[in-house]
Amino acid sequence: MSLARIFEEYPERRYIMFGGKGGLGKTTFSAATAYHLASQGHRVLVFSVDPQASLSDIFQRDIFGKGVVEIIPNLFAQEIDADRRIREYQDEIRQKILDMYGFEAVPDEIESYIQAASAEPAMEESAIFDQVVDIVVAGGYDYYIYDLVPLGHALYYLSMASVYDEWIGRITALREEMREYEQMASRIQRGKPVKEDQILNELQYIKNRISTSASILTDKEKTAFFFVLVPEEMILIDTLNAARLFAKYDVPISGYIVNRVLPDLVMTESGVPDYLRSRYKMQSEYLKKIDTTFMDQVLSRVPEFERDITGMEMIKRMAEAMFNEDATT
Ligand SMILES: Nc1ncnc2c1ncn2[C@@H]1O[C@H](COP(=O)(O)OP(=O)(O)O)[C@@H](O)[C@H]1O
Ligand SMILES: [Mg+2]
Repeated sequence: MSLARIFEEYPERRYIMFGGKGGLGKTTFSAATAYHLASQGHRVLVFSVDPQASLSDIFQRDIFGKGVVEIIPNLFAQEIDADRRIREYQDEIRQKILDMYGFEAVPDEIESYIQAASAEPAMEESAIFDQVVDIVVAGGYDYYIYDLVPLGHALYYLSMASVYDEWIGRITALREEMREYEQMASRIQRGKPVKEDQILNELQYIKNRISTSASILTDKEKTAFFFVLVPEEMILIDTLNAARLFAKYDVPISGYIVNRVLPDLVMTESGVPDYLRSRYKMQSEYLKKIDTTFMDQVLSRVPEFERDITGMEMIKRMAEAMFNEDATT
């Protein structure tokens, strides 16, 4: 099975993700896959949920926080600005407090509480997750390619249980928050009744989003998850461990892509330095191991290029290498 065939045989898998440790090629493969699918005429959105996003680097366009940007026909990219999202949250909460209690301005006590809550690390994850849900729920594309952060986060996005947990946690937190605001507000301004239905509406809204997002993000029919690895011992061990973890969470893996494979000419050409030849031999060992471990799930072997993959010309070459029918042999 090749990567190209997987896409042909499972056209209903429209949510595409590449997982693996940092620096192995997830962003590169996301961009090249987007390019490949777009050039076949599909409308593709590639978006980054990585705070250290590098879609801007690879496309050589400043897209950070600019919403959806069209890169070439059919290829759209977006880099999520989590900080901005958090600021929007804060504004929403402030507005709610003002509306609910009829204040002129948000009381200092509540303002400092909002600031403290926004500094929580979970807030950034939440903000990113929320944005992902918005993007996917909004629709409008044939393919959604998630440029993922390292593995733990991939699990976070994929496993049904954790998606639910996250949302249930947020509902509980929201309830508690509301109760605290209520107490603060009634201390500051006695007498005014709290509009209960606003809180209920909020919970209802979140509940609807849970079912929509969970059904999309965890749909095994519609999601393709690829592991990226390189032929090195530590990476092979890490990948095996991660694959076991994924199996435990019941996350379907569509296959493995091996990146940075040294070309055969390292051995056939003359004048190639010895260290490169010994690296090639080392890689050959690990490639064999990878094949015996993951067998027909290895979908593509991608060569080491002479430079970083940035700009359309390199992305195109990368896409050709990935989706080449012979890439598995
Ligand atoms: N096959 C390859 N040949 C040459 N450079 C590569 C190759 N694959 C990835 N790179 C480079 O390696 C770096 C890390 O890749 P990247 O896709 O950003 O990894 P990740 O998103 O997994 O952290 C980038 O500079 C990228 O251009
Ligand atoms: Mg990346």
